[in-house]
Amino acid sequence: MTSSTVAIDKLIAHTIREDVRNIASYHVPDASGYIKLDAMENPYQLPDTLRAELGQRLADAALNRYPVASYATLKAKICAGLGVPAGYDVLLGNGSDELISIMATAIATQGGKRAVVMAPTPAFVMFARSAQFAGADFVGVPVKSDFALDLPAMLAAIEKHQPALVFLAYPNNPTGNLFDADDMATIIRALGETGIAVVDEAYQPFAKKSFMGRLPEFPNLVVMRTLSKLGLAGIRLGYLSGDARLLDQFEKVRPPYNVNVLTQVAAEFALDHLDVLDRQAEMLNAERARLAAELAALPGVEVFPSAANFISLRVPDADQVCARLRDEKVLIKNLSKMDKVLANCIRVTVSTPEENTAFLTALKASL
Ligand SMILES: Cc1ncc(COP(=O)(O)O)c(C=O)c1O
Repeated sequence: MTSSTVAIDKLIAHTIREDVRNIASYHVPDASGYIKLDAMENPYQLPDTLRAELGQRLADAALNRYPVASYATLKAKICAGLGVPAGYDVLLGNGSDELISIMATAIATQGGKRAVVMAPTPAFVMFARSAQFAGADFVGVPVKSDFALDLPAMLAAIEKHQPALVFLAYPNNPTGNLFDADDMATIIRALGETGIAVVDEAYQPFAKKSFMGRLPEFPNLVVMRTLSKLGLAGIRLGYLSGDARLLDQFEKVRPPYNVNVLTQVAAEFALDHLDVLDRQAEMLNAERARLAAELAALPGVEVFPSAANFISLRVPDADQVCARLRDEKVLIKNLSKMDKVLANCIRVTVSTPEENTAFLTALKASL
């Protein structure tokens, strides 16, 4: 060990938080050369004519200037095109990942005590991670074996831990199911004046179900979405809506100019062509039905209902299946180690008919 290694080790031990030192980075496997079915991306690009037009718009973007700080045009297009109720505004994030982090930061401590962030688990990993980084405690409440909400357990946990923030992903990732809307409403009401409920609708383009229209019913409800799954994961744009006074508080934590001009231009352009993205979502939903039916016919495979652009399934040996699929250059997600309820489960993104067939062929060979 060189003296500079010793010095840097000392420096890190002295400066970097212990909980940060003790975790691994968010791992994204290298997908080059693989059929990439591990990240719930839309496999389709915009049609060539639209891409050419977008190219011109991007070329005209004023890269020398900071973005227009109000993002007024982009926000207006989101509100008009994506079902935000009249009188409600949106807050924009560099992906919904950033919005999760903004909300966790805004609530993390109260009266000198660590606040609690809660979610039914298994859940999207960034709920717990953002809570941790913000300095809040995360409490996960296990779902039932069929991945439904355990309502009595959720209500008991709310009573006990008094969470400041509760995430409900609708549909849930990594399970794919929609929680019962009445159970969710009961949870949102139970939080009342002491907790904010965030309904995370990342997969809404495929689920078509939403709490967005119900914002006026619940003052403590925030609805969060993203353009990622709709087909624009690369531009990183998330948005959330809720009571303007709540949004004002989160706005203080949002880094200025967090959405860059290229994203702004690309998103405004895409929102003018939502019909194209909606048609892609329809194609993916049709493929989801085909894939689910073909998977259900395989011996030893249990397929879980999905309202998202991915399907979770249980196989006899998830490690073996994932390894074999990797040999066949198909990348999926092994959920086995994430949670007890996901033993031997894998998750696959619904893709083009060709890629779905390649996955099915490789899966059959691996079983
Ligand atoms: C439930 C859920 N919320 C949020 C996100 C993050 O989306 P974004 O790409 O907008 O950061 C994901 C991504 O997979 C997700 O599954």
